[in-house]
Amino acid sequence: MQPGSSKASPPGADLVVLVPKERAEEARRQILEEGLLDTRRKIIDDGNFIEIPVVSQPCGYKAEPQEEPEFYQKTPELKAVLAGRIPEWLVDCLPRGWFILGDVVIVKLRPKVEDWKGDIGSALLQIYPRCKAVVMDKGIEGQFREPIREIIAGESSETVHIENGVKFCLDAQKIMFSQGNLLERIRMGRLGRGEMVVDMFAGIGYFTLPMAVHSRPRKITAIELNPVAYGYLKSNITLNHVEDIVEPVHGDCSEVTPIGEADRVIMGYVGTTNRYLKAGLLALRPGGIIHYHQTVPSWLYPRMAVEELTSAAGSLGLEVEVLRYARVKKFSPGVIHSVVDARIGQGV
Ligand SMILES: C[S@@+](CC[C@H](N)C(=O)[O-])C[C@H]1O[C@@H](n2cnc3c(N)ncnc32)[C@H](O)[C@@H]1O
Repeated sequence: MQPGSSKASPPGADLVVLVPKERAEEARRQILEEGLLDTRRKIIDDGNFIEIPVVSQPCGYKAEPQEEPEFYQKTPELKAVLAGRIPEWLVDCLPRGWFILGDVVIVKLRPKVEDWKGDIGSALLQIYPRCKAVVMDKGIEGQFREPIREIIAGESSETVHIENGVKFCLDAQKIMFSQGNLLERIRMGRLGRGEMVVDMFAGIGYFTLPMAVHSRPRKITAIELNPVAYGYLKSNITLNHVEDIVEPVHGDCSEVTPIGEADRVIMGYVGTTNRYLKAGLLALRPGGIIHYHQTVPSWLYPRMAVEELTSAAGSLGLEVEVLRYARVKKFSPGVIHSVVDARIGQGV
């Protein structure tokens, strides 16, 4: 349900859900997915709790009247800002959505409007005065999952994005940050307390940082091959003050993953993750847990990922107890990014 629809709360009865800070991102996401977030009002941090404005009662949370609601000023529409600057017949081809990482706007453009990318970029900066750059997104490529992006307004696309209390410094032009992996990043932030963890595809610290900040494992070995991502991983460890927990390792995880010491292994990579399963499985001590990410055709979900894991474990004489599987996100038409959690060992 959207604000302004017939079921929205009447004027004077603005509702809000109060949640502790550490659960706020998860609650916001659920409320957004249920279509109950009141986008006219701001989310407020009142110290211990976060106030999330809602249009009616969400599942599992108690909504109550808000004492001092804060309203957003209406954001101008892109087509209104561009009026007179682009041909009339292109207005329907303008982007309707974009996302913001730190203070950088990321937008996909249809080929028809690419000749006006400079105008679109400066219009977006006009709409979001707190942002300093706009980056055009053309997808992701290669082993390093690098985005193909171009700055279309502003100069620098380096930014600090804050999510779930974790700071991610990154260059939005060179480094991916998947919106669809949000719940998985939050989930990783609840696991690993006191454990030895290996994150085999650490990137800039997508899973390592929430886990280190919120769960404080004994140690996380965070492995990354791409020198640019590795540079940000190291900066982010310092930025989040988790140098005592995270040991960054620059290298290929098929060669540098430690053997037999991990309580938990994260394999946050897709496409060819199965090639690295032997290293991931051998990293675990008996009874350890693996988080195996893989892309699978939807009609083979979750079977294909489970079978890859079971077959690799079988060839090493190990047994697999599947604890959970889930869809992380839709990866492409007919393809799911999945994750399988399993306990690995003999006689499990
Ligand atoms: C981009 S992340 C995946 C996304 C991430 N899990 C998230 O939550 O958004 C995958 C990382 O694995 C790295 N990588 C790819 N092959 C690798 C290898 N053999 N060893 C170590 N890192 C590797 C890539 O450079 C990339 O930074």
